Amino acid sequence: MCGIFGYIGEKEAIPFILEGLKKLEYRGYDSAGVATLEKGQLFVTKCLGKIQQLEEELSQKPIGGQIGVGHTRWATHGKPSQPNSHPHQDCTGKIAVVHNGIIENYLELRRELANKGHHFSSTTDTEVIAHLIEENYDGDLLQALAKSLKQARGAYALAIISEHTPNSIIIARQGSPLIVGFGAEESFISSDIAAMLKYTNKIIQLENGQIGRLTPKTFKLFDLELTPIKKRKELVSWDPQSAEKSGFAHFMLKEIHEQPSAIRNTIEGRIKAQDHIIHFDELNLTDKEICRINRIVFTACGTSWHAALIGEYLFEQFAKIPAEVEYAAEFRYREPIIDDKTLVIAITQSGETADTLGAVWEAKVQGAKVISICNVVGSSIARESHGVVYTNAGPEIGVASTKAFTTQLAIVYLLAILFGKRHGFINEQQSIGLINDLIELPGKLEQTLQVEKEVERIAEKLHKANNALYLGRGKGFPIALEGALKLKEVSYVHAEGYPAAEMKHGPIALIDHKMPVIVLALAGRRYEKILGNIEEVKARGGIVIAIASDKEPAIMEKADEIIFIPKTSESLSPILAVVPLQLLAYYIALKRGCHVDQPRNLAKSVTVE
Ligand code: M6R
Repeated sequence: MCGIFGYIGEKEAIPFILEGLKKLEYRGYDSAGVATLEKGQLFVTKCLGKIQQLEEELSQKPIGGQIGVGHTRWATHGKPSQPNSHPHQDCTGKIAVVHNGIIENYLELRRELANKGHHFSSTTDTEVIAHLIEENYDGDLLQALAKSLKQARGAYALAIISEHTPNSIIIARQGSPLIVGFGAEESFISSDIAAMLKYTNKIIQLENGQIGRLTPKTFKLFDLELTPIKKRKELVSWDPQSAEKSGFAHFMLKEIHEQPSAIRNTIEGRIKAQDHIIHFDELNLTDKEICRINRIVFTACGTSWHAALIGEYLFEQFAKIPAEVEYAAEFRYREPIIDDKTLVIAITQSGETADTLGAVWEAKVQGAKVISICNVVGSSIARESHGVVYTNAGPEIGVASTKAFTTQLAIVYLLAILFGKRHGFINEQQSIGLINDLIELPGKLEQTLQVEKEVERIAEKLHKANNALYLGRGKGFPIALEGALKLKEVSYVHAEGYPAAEMKHGPIALIDHKMPVIVLALAGRRYEKILGNIEEVKARGGIVIAIASDKEPAIMEKADEIIFIPKTSESLSPILAVVPLQLLAYYIALKRGCHVDQPRNLAKSVTVE
């Protein structure tokens, strides 16, 4: 949560920082602020509200300088308010700190510092860092920060500017992402790569326990003992356009439409057309190791957890390996029973979700092999895992995850085939058939997107409803959960996803003529059972919106609305079926006047527990 952006160079810092913060606003948007150094003097402007508010304040009362740091906040400690917004300052007003993360022992530190005479202006955890640096400052700001961080416990990405060192930005990382980008005669810091892609693709990602000093032309990296660390710059291959809206009204809509190309990118290089062999370069698992695995535990949060549920079905179906799915936050504190024959698969778009990262650590401590399915290259979870498979979906900016989900499903599908082959349950011929189905999928996704107008019309009909029920069976069940989550997130409509058969055990009591029930009527062996569930809803007056691939008479008669998706295999149908549900959530949110890309109370990467 929270976004940090900084600039140091020969140009005015504020325009860069504001633009960077706008791109990071998905990480939090309850308050924002900037600090600059001009002719050695520190200036701070901060306010409650979004970056736009900050921009207005700065246009009324501009601040200059070629060095600066900015912050967009998602409150954890201390309510959203002007005093609680970042940057925070020490008593002298010479040091300004922006922070993403949580200082867990801040109360204790605050008490000690207050006893020494420090005066606090906010109720945040972050402010202790500014005062600790002040307390420890002895002519070298980097040293003061290193000393302070030995006293602080918790997670942080920190950026500090100060009148004490008017030509540098001091940074540190533990648990929260921070990236340095290198341009010509200028450098940037950012919480993610996408926010700086417009200026540079040459980066260094800080590792945990690292601290650095950035000047316009130099960057020095150290550990907390101030031992120098050598780190090579990486080149990021993301296209800068992918971090822009490119004519779409919202990132969410753009990312829904990007799904065909995103899946093409996911597959590219992983399947050799001539021999249909699946390659995962960074998986780091030998065939022998794959064969030894006798249990799979998926761990994830939110939408990625729904992808894991589909993974459970696929691994059991294709590879006959017992699989289960754990909420990361539950898994990490549950003393899970796993061993070296267990493969833990962490699924995450950002690679920075605190609970999933904690689950990865726990799994490693317990001796399991851990691989992650991740979108952000070089992210914490990718680096902490023994192996990684990148989804290659490109930056996902909309808070509601869409293309990350469908690309995760494509990876899980390929992994399940790979494991199925190694475990001897899928032969060459079957593997070729399954892979060909996936190769055809992007084209079918393009066809699926043509339902957009139809979905918009249905959204108009449904947008005033205050509740919705989503039902599915088999692999349709996780899609029901995902459809309900999308609607909740962006339109604030209460929605529940259920296995359709469970409806009669309780939720059926909710059904009346005002209740929209979205039913995943996917082709396959459960289809007739789903028709039965539709009957049950209709008998109680509910409004049925079916997602189906067959124009067969029974469904045509029973459902009030049907959204047709192209035919594909039962295992890939979730990837197509989720698209109309993403669009439905999007259009209902629009019609309800909700802020689609920045839903209230949410942040894109949940880097706190
Ligand atoms: O980055 P991750 O995939 O680890 O994030 C997990 C969840 O926070 C995320 O999927 C969240 O539920 C999304 N907002 C869903 O749209």
